[in-house]
Amino acid sequence: MRSEKILEMLNEQLNRELFSAYFYTAMEAYFASQNLDGFANFFMVQTKEELDHARLIFDYINKIGGRVILKELKQPKIDYSSPTEVFELALSHERFITSSIHEIAKAALEEKDLTTHNFLQWFINEQAEEEETMDKILRKLKFIKEDPSGLLFLDKELSTRVYTPPSILQEN
Ligand SMILES: [Fe+2]
Ligand SMILES: [Fe+2]
Repeated sequence: MRSEKILEMLNEQLNRELFSAYFYTAMEAYFASQNLDGFANFFMVQTKEELDHARLIFDYINKIGGRVILKELKQPKIDYSSPTEVFELALSHERFITSSIHEIAKAALEEKDLTTHNFLQWFINEQAEEEETMDKILRKLKFIKEDPSGLLFLDKELSTRVYTPPSILQEN
């Protein structure tokens, strides 16, 4: 059974995923302006993934007969003091998104909406990966203490990240 409460929460989550894409696009722009193209590539791929998350929720709302309501996107932060600050913000944003998805999953259980609860399992797993990815890079940045040669090495590593659409999206 779907409820208005769950639909409202899903619409809010759709907005949060779209904002995530916006948030990471601002980070891509920052790194591009610093000539750290590998870091910029990392956030370009991240943005595409966030748009996939938004698409999955968009499609799901429609599938269950709900109405997608697009809300306002606030301006993301555009200036950062260092790459470390960027990844600190990215990690705390992902933690916020994880708790937001957990809240919907809990509400879905309370409302006995097992279909939505099941739909959210993919997102719960995805969030664990997203947090791990951001945390790993943040730890590396702290380890190299933003030493220029270390930064360039990490930039090269991040330039290899490629976008692959999630299999769940290909199935639809
Ligand atoms: Fe996401
Ligand atoms: Fe994310």
